[in-house]
Amino acid sequence: MNNDDKNKSKLRSAQWFGTADKNGFMYRSWMKNQGIPDHHFDNKPVIGICNTWSELTPCNAHFRDLADRVKNGIREAGGIPVEFPVFSNGESNLRPTAMLTRNLAAMDTEEAIRGNPIDGVVLMVGCDKTTPALLMGAASCDLPTIVVSGGPMLNGKHHGKDVGSGTLVWKMHEEYKAGNISLQEFMDAEASMSRSAGTCNTMGTASTMASMAESLGVSLPHNAAIPAVDSRRYVLAHMSGMRAVEMVHEDLKLSKVLTRDAFLNAIKTNAAIGGSTNAVIHLKAIAGRMGVDLDLDDWLEGKEVPTIVNLQPSGRYLMEDFYYSGGLPVVLRRLGEQGILAKDALTVNGQTIGKNVEDAPCYNDDVIRTFDEPLLKHGGICVLRGNLAPRGAVLKPSAASPHLMKHRGRAVVFESFEDYKARIADPDLDIDENSVMVLKNCGPKGYPGMAEVGNMGLPPKVLKKGVKDMVRISDARMSGTAFGTVVLHVAPEAMELGPLAAVEEGDYIQLDADAGVLQLEVSDEELKARLEKLKATQVIVKSGGYLEIYRERVLQADEGCDLDFLVGCRGAAVPKHSH
Ligand code: FES
Ligand code: MG
Repeated sequence: MNNDDKNKSKLRSAQWFGTADKNGFMYRSWMKNQGIPDHHFDNKPVIGICNTWSELTPCNAHFRDLADRVKNGIREAGGIPVEFPVFSNGESNLRPTAMLTRNLAAMDTEEAIRGNPIDGVVLMVGCDKTTPALLMGAASCDLPTIVVSGGPMLNGKHHGKDVGSGTLVWKMHEEYKAGNISLQEFMDAEASMSRSAGTCNTMGTASTMASMAESLGVSLPHNAAIPAVDSRRYVLAHMSGMRAVEMVHEDLKLSKVLTRDAFLNAIKTNAAIGGSTNAVIHLKAIAGRMGVDLDLDDWLEGKEVPTIVNLQPSGRYLMEDFYYSGGLPVVLRRLGEQGILAKDALTVNGQTIGKNVEDAPCYNDDVIRTFDEPLLKHGGICVLRGNLAPRGAVLKPSAASPHLMKHRGRAVVFESFEDYKARIADPDLDIDENSVMVLKNCGPKGYPGMAEVGNMGLPPKVLKKGVKDMVRISDARMSGTAFGTVVLHVAPEAMELGPLAAVEEGDYIQLDADAGVLQLEVSDEELKARLEKLKATQVIVKSGGYLEIYRERVLQADEGCDLDFLVGCRGAAVPKHSH
């Protein structure tokens, strides 16, 4: 580097690499041990590739190769790629739930971005929680940022049929419990379900969050659906790398993309795709980091939007079919044509979302339905309130049974998931298909981490009658691949002594999903008395470690389950020197 040029650059990274002095020497010298030539420190945007690669996150295990494609694009556009790892939240292995560490990964991402010589960021995400975690962390920094998702697995193939990630497990397990298939037949499906690199191939949480990223405008078009192993995924990674460099030159920060309009677009898109209920929590958490107002009631904007994407678990097909049919751009175009998309929302390619999708062709109207022939007339997420959920609860109608959307039933109460597991198969359990299954202590503080146990399986004795669904209520979440008339995210949770904690065996509960009502037929006085009694006997367990901060500071589901002190954008001002 010409010493005269040093100190002139406007790039953030130049505050590390751009000075002809002792500090510049130190920052550059150690980087040079990687074989970086001197002229690379000469006013070139440094793009951080924030990678969630991990062999313990099988859905993201192909990310090393994908990151190389991103690097090719960055170099072609004149930038310097620097790849770094962040905590990888793998849904399938992490216990008690990957949700417990979503905020940890977000903290990791935020601090890694802010503390390092980075001008722009590529977020490499895939498995469920990795997308919100990295977006939350990046939003708190607000540098130019682009998302590259890993893409879904190829369609599962079992005994000549297409089978979907997760959804197959839930369905076959119920068949097994009902005595319709053998244990061996159930186990045989394992390898058939997951047969290529990538994320769940259903419209589960990973595909939902990839679709949320695309509808928020933080990824290039088609990011949501290109299969992980399709060469076009590599092209998208390459183009995203190029774009990240240009975004730095254009100063296209995340806050210019993540506007309230963008979030409302995402909410409507979630309805149209039959997306996961987990998006309710994650979008709120991302919005909170960006300082955008978003409430549970904003989900009512999506309530009348039909579900037009015919994918499991709501419908029939899988992500491969979705991509070959035209992918998310078709959905966005159709939303736009109905006047329910804020078309002017800016996206990371520098164009508006409306412009990006105006000519998006559809190749299969059965996979991506028209608004005249939707899969479900009213998609979206029902927001429920009542004395059982003063701060709200949610239900996904596209995964529910129409005949249970309005239901009154006697509560069968499980005090914890362990209690549920211990008693559900008991032939003497006093339960039938009209009962309402209530599960407590599975919320953010209760489980802890708010596990995906809300779609608790039905009792075998009811399944054996051929019954496929019952009303279930909890403070838990459910997998995006799951289905059923399942009321989730009851807030406040039982562990916070929300009214859910006070439900007793034999109480009656009313659900009216269309009216948004969840009511416990117990008087206010009685409810108060029960809660006071519980308060007197509640034992708070101290655990130490991350879990202790998490339990003390986690917000409830209606607030996005972030840690309270992490909400907000803290920017990316360059910290003081390390020496
Ligand atoms: Fe990783 Fe479904 S378990 S995407
Ligand atoms: Mg999942």
